Amino acid sequence: MNISGSIKDTRNQVKEWKSQGLSVALVPTMGYLHDGHKSLMERARKENDKVVVSIFVNPMQFGPQEDYDSYPRDLERDGAICQEAGVDWIFHPEVEEMYGPHFCGYVDMHTLPEKLCGASRPVHFRGVQTVVSKLFHIIPAQRAYFGQKDAQQLAIIRRMVMDLDFDIEIIGCPIVREADGLAKSSRNTYLSREERAQAVILNQSLEEAMRLVEAGEKEAEKVKEAIIKKLSGCPLARIDYVEIVSFDNIQPIQRLEGPVLIAIAVYIGTTRLIDNRIIM
Ligand code: PAF
Repeated sequence: MNISGSIKDTRNQVKEWKSQGLSVALVPTMGYLHDGHKSLMERARKENDKVVVSIFVNPMQFGPQEDYDSYPRDLERDGAICQEAGVDWIFHPEVEEMYGPHFCGYVDMHTLPEKLCGASRPVHFRGVQTVVSKLFHIIPAQRAYFGQKDAQQLAIIRRMVMDLDFDIEIIGCPIVREADGLAKSSRNTYLSREERAQAVILNQSLEEAMRLVEAGEKEAEKVKEAIIKKLSGCPLARIDYVEIVSFDNIQPIQRLEGPVLIAIAVYIGTTRLIDNRIIM
């Protein structure tokens, strides 16, 4: 396995593999890898000849008051996890390699990024779309793997690939959870012991929602109310949003019909966590 910070070397390697007729997968990450990332790498390993993992904490997707500086980083540990997962190449660029001094080539779709996480993190999705576009150009893989925990990100990237004609297949992979149901996230490391215990409320509130849906409830407002009621019973939880939207275009819906995304963002103490259910 190679680790490279060079755009040129990484692109040349991927081109060489492709010229040999090998299929290449990209797993974009911000590092501090956990079992959720591992599941993406393992799936990529199964379905492709070569696997590239990018590890880049992208400053452009963090707002000024957000946790860019404190975002957890551990390249040595990440390297060992990638090695074990059979990754062939890690792309780990410096910020200067990705964004030169006069950088201004942003990618910014409209509509999809405005709601849910985009409402409370106004620059976030522009940063995600820009860096993911760059990664798709640097690493012209046949397939890219993303987790469904970031469901809005997945919907935006799918839309971006469609609208801008990127020649890459986007594969969404299921959320990986801790034994008690908390979705795996690099940010879980911020939680104190007490916060960690209460963080299970996110998944529990969504389970409550699914019980209603499975019993035939079609009114989005009723499902939303049940989630808010459950979350409100947790002393350390502060709701950022509870939304029920169409998964295709991230627009609010009244009735649960077609592909539906039930998405929540909740502060547990000062840590903002997200979780969701996608109903196809
Ligand atoms: O999901 C993430 O870890 C990031 O948003 C991504 C897709 C790697 C872009 O920086």
